[in-house]
Amino acid sequence: MRQTASRFGRSFVTCGSAWFAFAALGGPVSAQEVGAAAGIYQKACAACHGIDGRGAALDQVGFDVPLPDFADCSFASREPAADWYAIAHEGGPVRAFDRRMPSFSGVLSVSDLELAVAHTKAFCADRAWPQGELNLPRALVTEKAYPEDEAVLSTTMASGTFVNEFLYERRIGARSQVEVNVPVGAQDAGSGWHRGLGDVKVALKHVLSHSADTGHILSVAGEVRLPTGKENEGLGKGVTIFEPFVAYGQLLTADSFLHVQAGAEFPTNGDRASNELFWRTAFGRSFVEGEFGRTWSPIIELLGARELGEHESMLWDVVPQMQVTLSRRQHVMVNAGVRLPINDREWRGTEVLTYLLWDWFDGGFFDGWR
Ligand code: HEC
Repeated sequence: MRQTASRFGRSFVTCGSAWFAFAALGGPVSAQEVGAAAGIYQKACAACHGIDGRGAALDQVGFDVPLPDFADCSFASREPAADWYAIAHEGGPVRAFDRRMPSFSGVLSVSDLELAVAHTKAFCADRAWPQGELNLPRALVTEKAYPEDEAVLSTTMASGTFVNEFLYERRIGARSQVEVNVPVGAQDAGSGWHRGLGDVKVALKHVLSHSADTGHILSVAGEVRLPTGKENEGLGKGVTIFEPFVAYGQLLTADSFLHVQAGAEFPTNGDRASNELFWRTAFGRSFVEGEFGRTWSPIIELLGARELGEHESMLWDVVPQMQVTLSRRQHVMVNAGVRLPINDREWRGTEVLTYLLWDWFDGGFFDGWR
């Protein structure tokens, strides 16, 4: 998705050749344009979606496929306008929805269809909800600012270690999110492998500021790492650690994006682990196959961490990676990359990192593939 100045002097997002009202809900929109958008929606969409966007009665439309509620911000705000444009242009099947959602290509002009989509996006008028455009592709290490409803299975492989992490994230209202991370690891102890639970982490995140017009989102978060893993088997740190951080996301031109995360780790017992500061950035760009197909996002992360102590130095890593959407709905994706230490390589090895991500709000894991 690309942000660019529009013909109407406000932010638009482009995806391929199409232009969208980015913030249909804000910015200096002319009354004429708003009126035109409502008119097109009423003619082309309201018979099924209802004048109020909540969906016409099923006995009235003559089919039994439930209609979405465009006025429900919890659902509507998270959908990027480009995705809704793709569905309205190509019809439901382009994102594995029902074919009773018809294709409007050849029926409405590009600009009329954009206005109809802008009108559907405007049914949710509560600006507390961050727009889906700000939900940037997830990097392997750097945390996102956007609050999510998703489940992620990630793996870290290095010589002598193998860790699976099960991460569950759930939104609370417009701006908050809770997450639980359960790692299960295996550590080569020389005499054999130790397997077991690692340190469970629980975190809360809250969005402080976001704007579809400027393309930014800023959150604060607090994480607690509990000493549930056996320290003597290399599966945990043996101490409770508090980790406050800020996360920032920025949409850039040419379908590119930036994540920045900065924070600190404070162990409750300073004898067993040291305080640490960390700084992570991820820069990436999305490429869409064809006009509405699979999305590939190459990303590169630069990670810095430093223990607070007299003789400690900054440790730097770089993580090239590729994220790709797997399902037609684009709610299941994978990412794979390698974490390469830049300095202190005598004692720090390369790690292979992957995740499988399921955006469960958008449908069951096995729904939305065809
Ligand atoms: C003939 C009835 C009909 C018309 C006319 C219609 N739709 Fe739909 N639309 C549907 C149905 C049915 C679904 C739900 C499909 C599903 O859930 O599988 C749907 C779903 C959608 C979705 C997907 C929402 C989501 O779940 O992410 C969007 C966006 C959408 N319609 C936009 C439009 C727009 C814009 C127009 C007018 C230009 C329009 N529709 C006209 C029947 C219609």
